[in-house]
Amino acid sequence: LGARLTLDPDATIGAIDRRLFGSFVEHLGRGIYDGIHEPSHPLADEWGFRTDVLELVRELGVSTIRYPGGNFVSGYRWEDGIGPRHERPTRLDLAWHSTETNQVGLDEFAAWAERAGADVMLAVNLGTRGVAEALDLLEYTNIPGGTTWSDARIAHGRTAPYDVRMWCLGNEMDGPWQLGHRSADDYGKLAARTARAMRQLDPSLELVVCGSSSSRMPTFGAWERTVLQHTYDDVDHISCHAYYELEDDDMGSFLASAVDMDRFIDTVVATADQVGAERRSAKRIQISFDEWNVWYFRRYEEVDKITGTGNWPVAPRLLEDTYTVADAVVVGSLLVSLLRHADRVTSASMAQLVNVIAPITTEPGAHAWRQTTFFPFATTSRLARGSSLDVAISSSRHVTAARGEVDVVDAVATWDETTGRSAVFLVNRDEHRPATVTIDVSRLPVTRVTECRTLSDDDPFAINTVDDPERVQLIDNTTAELTDGRVSVVLPPVSWTALALA
Ligand code: AHR
Repeated sequence: LGARLTLDPDATIGAIDRRLFGSFVEHLGRGIYDGIHEPSHPLADEWGFRTDVLELVRELGVSTIRYPGGNFVSGYRWEDGIGPRHERPTRLDLAWHSTETNQVGLDEFAAWAERAGADVMLAVNLGTRGVAEALDLLEYTNIPGGTTWSDARIAHGRTAPYDVRMWCLGNEMDGPWQLGHRSADDYGKLAARTARAMRQLDPSLELVVCGSSSSRMPTFGAWERTVLQHTYDDVDHISCHAYYELEDDDMGSFLASAVDMDRFIDTVVATADQVGAERRSAKRIQISFDEWNVWYFRRYEEVDKITGTGNWPVAPRLLEDTYTVADAVVVGSLLVSLLRHADRVTSASMAQLVNVIAPITTEPGAHAWRQTTFFPFATTSRLARGSSLDVAISSSRHVTAARGEVDVVDAVATWDETTGRSAVFLVNRDEHRPATVTIDVSRLPVTRVTECRTLSDDDPFAINTVDDPERVQLIDNTTAELTDGRVSVVLPPVSWTALALA
């Protein structure tokens, strides 16, 4: 098996927006409570947040963090989470059938995100609420002072406004599971009204309107078209959400999940541009892929899901998937897909960050560790700089049950003109055989391979656990060689590789 590709600095796809390396923290399960926040932990800081988790979040290299949901936001009253903690109400969280204690709210979270070196991206509740509450929240976060909500923020200890730039206009409003679920027409009108009102307060906001919850939704395509017909002039981004899982032991299709993500992005771009064309608009709507990951959703539905009118646990274990090497290879390949669309995908959030379908896991009172999926994310965030390049790949191909015939090797490259550094991210989707890749780098001023690291294992189901937290790690790929303007490298079966050049 093999592939050939070329790194050509003139074959630029687009500048890489750092916001592609965003993450997501929702009030869900142990994402916050007993996740990032555990006041009784020996490593907790003065605000009750775990410093070991904070260090891992910094190492992961996340640029933005979406908050506070997700499905949770559609029933959330943001003002429950501000002010003296002992006065905060305890509420039912209908989205995850849990009890929300509100001990962490906007102020605690925003201060924590600042310490993590990440920008906050907020979602407003358009499920059970509307324009007025969105404006109150925006006044709290972005107005310097002299009004009820901005002065409340100052009284709570935060003098400078948070100056939150990116806002999601609700969450997954196309989904029947969503509190306040609406038709595309109803939601489009509400989103347009909310967007205009928010921009009256702060014209420079970047607004994300809800696209489809997945490309499998029956309304996919029609939803985007109708929603954008209402909101085209008032928003900057439309969201995409996609989760993948190994289904029916079909590893070949699972490893080719990025083929689906590619199609998803291309379809939403085409739909958005069609609406733009109908309006004779020069404006281009960009994509915020603000939820993506591997998620064993069936396990949630069949095992985890909480029910019962007398049963509303606090911070239950929900969506705590343990990720395998194969899952991490898929995560790496989804990042390849996002980078390949850097011209139109300018924001993305891996869902989520800690414990809940997350690259970082914790146990109360014990240590935190990196899941397999941590490695491709952290490495791509560190190395992918400048612009992404179309690598004109020519690869062996194979047939998969769910995705048809696909390239065995997938790849994208990045090139940073200012530092003269480039990187190539490669995936071998074959289950059993290695693939040899030849990369023509003669058009770049490249003199050496500075790093070549691979995620693979003899057992594609290998995992990291509380007892063996470093079982899976990146390994140096010593096969990488640069000769006469060509790099050759061998990719093991079911593997993800990052190659850095200078
Ligand atoms: O990330 C988990 C959930 O997935 C989010 O709350 C929701 O938006 C999506 O369905």
